Amino acid sequence: MKIKDKEFEVLITAEELNQKIKILAEGINADYKGKNPLFIAILNGSFMFAADLMKEIEVECGISFIKLSSYQEMTSTGSVTELIGLNENIFKRDVVIIEDIIDTGGTMVSVLDEFRERGVSSVEVVTLLLKPTALQNNIDIKYLGFEIPDVFVVGYGLDYDGLGRNTKAIYQIKS
Ligand code: XMP
Ligand code: MG
Repeated sequence: MKIKDKEFEVLITAEELNQKIKILAEGINADYKGKNPLFIAILNGSFMFAADLMKEIEVECGISFIKLSSYQEMTSTGSVTELIGLNENIFKRDVVIIEDIIDTGGTMVSVLDEFRERGVSSVEVVTLLLKPTALQNNIDIKYLGFEIPDVFVVGYGLDYDGLGRNTKAIYQIKS
């Protein structure tokens, strides 16, 4: 597959994704039986994973979507992440964050901090992909799809420069 100037090859097939999603959902269904969790998916990358995962979730639950915008603060060197679109009251809720990929883990740490500040009863993470060698933060990932090498991936919601989200498989960049 070619996107713009880059060639990509299949890393994870549609069948492998479907199988793994069923297994992840089985775990969540067992753990959240009778609990009414609130799933919160991080846009844009996780939209396809979230949709397919939710079709396999059998417990009573809600789903909501958030976006993150990071910007540089004028006064400090650190980048600040702002969380957009969370209208639900998450106080005392059992939250499950749905993410497409955890790379350095920086994004997930800031989301977890924000949710804990808002007084969730519990918060767990389900991520389809993890780059273990890129991870720089200590994150407890309860539900993990695939560990992948530290290579750039696209497809199944993930993008290269805004393109390539609309595929059934996940692709890695050809070196
Ligand atoms: P961190 O480093 O905060 O990054 O864990 C997580 C976010 O970075 C994006 N990301 C990728 N997007 N292919 C992509 O299309 C990749 O290989 C990749 N690695 C990281 C992604 O948006 C994720 O939410
Ligand atoms: Mg993302």
